[in-house]
Amino acid sequence: MIEKTTHFGFQDIPESEKARRVRGVFGSVASKYDVMNDAMSLGIHRVWKDAMMDWLAPRSGQRLLDVAGGTGDISFRFLKRAGQAHATVLDLTEPMLIEGRKRAEAEQMAESLDWVVGDAMALPFENNSFDVYTISFGIRNVTRPQEALNEAFRVLKPGGRLMVLEFSQIPNELMQKVYDLYSFNIIPRLGQMIADDRDSYQYLVESIRQFPDQETFLQMVRAAGFENAKYRNLSLGIACLHSGWKI
Ligand SMILES: C[S@@+](CC[C@H](N)C(=O)[O-])C[C@H]1O[C@@H](n2cnc3c(N)ncnc32)[C@H](O)[C@@H]1O
Repeated sequence: MIEKTTHFGFQDIPESEKARRVRGVFGSVASKYDVMNDAMSLGIHRVWKDAMMDWLAPRSGQRLLDVAGGTGDISFRFLKRAGQAHATVLDLTEPMLIEGRKRAEAEQMAESLDWVVGDAMALPFENNSFDVYTISFGIRNVTRPQEALNEAFRVLKPGGRLMVLEFSQIPNELMQKVYDLYSFNIIPRLGQMIADDRDSYQYLVESIRQFPDQETFLQMVRAAGFENAKYRNLSLGIACLHSGWKI
């Protein structure tokens, strides 16, 4: 039987290889991941993550599952806004979680967090377990994003909320060209200079161009069962937030 293929940046690879390759990328950049985020986005990823929290409006007592949570950026923000709450950070790449744990200890937040190695497509949690599910700059790396959304729906409690932050498509051709010039020329060079890893950041910019546009992704959110699904563009559509509810 011929195995299905998927994209890894601009390459086509067998589906069974993608998780290993993605783990290779994030394992390689884990210790420089946070510094690189600031450098390549000029700090704007912080504004987008804050916008995610503004829309999400975390509340005391909520249980968050932050999938592809990496070094914990979303979980830390969520906990700071919610007051008393709990966050589980799940990620495929253990070195990213190890960096996150160090940050949690430094910020004296370790008690409110769990760190779990796992795959977004097969979550090791029971049905109806969480109030909020977030995935930030993670879903475009998942081999079959629809399966991740289906899993999000399964583990959320009735009344639970999904929020996805991801790079998206700029609905203006000229702006898209300017953005492509920046991302394809500058970001891999920054990756080389700061993380000594050009290839991982080449993958990053290629993977952004492969991800579905806002409307297509909205249909995927609805197909997973979410209701009242909506999106908001950030910075003209460079990034986008999708929200949905398990009713
Ligand atoms: C760009 S980082 C995002 C980290 C963090 N959420 C943030 O916004 O800064 C992407 C993360 O997705 C994780 N990842 C990729 N595929 C995954 C999967 N199938 N299941 C869980 N995590 C995955 C990677 O290991 C990596 O840590």
